[in-house]
Amino acid sequence: MFPIKTARLSSMPYDNFFEQELSILKTEGRYRVFADLERHAHKAPIASWYSKDGKKPVVVWCSNDYLGMSHHPLVIEAATKAATTYGAGSGGTRNISGTGHLHVELENTVAKLHEKEAGLVFTSGYVANEATLCTLAKGLPNCVAFCDERIHASMIQGISHSRVPKHIFSHNNLEQLRQQLDSYPLNQPKIIAFVSVYSMEGDFAPIEAICDLAKEYNALTYLDEVHAVGIYGKGGAGLANALGQSHRIDIIQANFAKAYGVIGGYITGSKSLVDYVRSFASGFIFTTSLPPMVTSAAISSINVLQQADDLRQKLWSNVNLLKNLLSKTKVNYHHTPSHIVPVVIGNAKICKDFTDTLLHDFGIYVQPINYPTVPRGQERLRLTVTPFHNEEMIKDMTNALALLWEKFFMLKAG
Ligand SMILES: Cc1ncc(COP(=O)(O)O)c(C=O)c1O
Repeated sequence: MFPIKTARLSSMPYDNFFEQELSILKTEGRYRVFADLERHAHKAPIASWYSKDGKKPVVVWCSNDYLGMSHHPLVIEAATKAATTYGAGSGGTRNISGTGHLHVELENTVAKLHEKEAGLVFTSGYVANEATLCTLAKGLPNCVAFCDERIHASMIQGISHSRVPKHIFSHNNLEQLRQQLDSYPLNQPKIIAFVSVYSMEGDFAPIEAICDLAKEYNALTYLDEVHAVGIYGKGGAGLANALGQSHRIDIIQANFAKAYGVIGGYITGSKSLVDYVRSFASGFIFTTSLPPMVTSAAISSINVLQQADDLRQKLWSNVNLLKNLLSKTKVNYHHTPSHIVPVVIGNAKICKDFTDTLLHDFGIYVQPINYPTVPRGQERLRLTVTPFHNEEMIKDMTNALALLWEKFFMLKAG
C-alpha cells in the first residue's frame, strides 16, 4: 500500500495563478479573443463568423494570405494530389525517415528563387529563424549579434537562446548600428539580423546600406523576407532581389505561410552554411518534417507566383486605392511604401472596442494588435488588402474606419 498524500496547506494554487495572470491581460484590454471564423476556399476575402447569434458573413481585412494563394486551384490540386499519392504525413524527422523527394525539390526551388547555392526547409518560419540564428550565433566562436529593435519574436528567441552578447539598434538606425559594430575587432564573428518588410510598421529595411556596413565590419547578414516573398522582386523573389542586393545577403530566410498561402519556413545561403545548420540545428533535426501535401502545395505556389505579375498588379492597385481613400479621411493610417497599412490607435482598450465595433456593426474582421506584438501606446489595426477585395469592399472599409474614427476620437475629444 502506498501512503495517500494529503494536500499540504502551502500547495501551489495553480489555477488561481493562471486566472490572476489572465485577469491582468483582461484589465489592460490585451486579452486575446480569437474570432471564430470559417474561411472558404473560393470566397476570400469573405469568411463566415460564428457569432453568438449564429453564422454571419464577414469581410476579412487582416489575412497574411496576401495573394489568396491558399485557395489557388493549382495549389489546392497539388496538395490534394500529394496527399492521395504519398499519404498525409511525412513519416518522421528528416534524419530518421522523413526526408522525401518533395523536400529536396522544395529546397532546390527556394535556393533557385533567391539565387543561392542551397536551401533548407523547416516546419515554420518561426522555427527557421529560431533554429538558424541560435545555431549560427552559438556555433561561431565569440559571435556577437546585432538586431534591429523590430525584428520578429522568433529571431529574438534564436539569438537569446544562443546566449551570445547582443546589441539592439533602434529601428533602421544605421548610425547606431555602425557605432555598435565599431566597438568590436574586425575578425570577431558578427551577425546582423534584420527584416526586409517590417510587418507591423509596413516599412522597409535599408538593405543596401546594411550590406555596406556588414562588408565594412566583416559581419554576416541574416535577412527575414517573410512578408516580402511572392510580392516583391522578380517572380516574387523578395525585396533584396528587387533592390539587386540578394547576392550580398548571406542568409535569406522566409516562409510559405504568407504570400505563398501554405505553411513552413526556410533558409537559403551558401552550401557550407546551410549544411552546417542542417547538421547542428536542434529545431531542424528533432522534429517531424513537413508533410507531402504541404511541400507539394508550396512548390506549386512558388511556381505560380513566379509568373503572376497580373496578380501582383491587382494587389498594388487595391493597395493604392485603399491608401488613396484613407488619405481623404482623418484616420491615422501610415502611408507605407509596402502592401501593409497600419492604422495606429495607441490604446489597447480602444483598439479592441474599435475592432469589435467593426466586426459587430459592419461585418468587417480586423484583429487588434497589442503589446507585446507592438510597443505599448502603439496599438493598431494592420490592414491587408488582397487582389480579391473589390472596390465596394475597399470603399466600405474606408467609410467604416472614417465613421468610427469620428466616434472614438473626434467626438470624445470635442
Ligand atoms: C517577420 C516574421 N518572421 C517570421 C515569422 C514566423 O513565420 P511562421 O508564421 O511561418 O512561423 C513571422 C510570422 O508572423 C513574421 O512576421
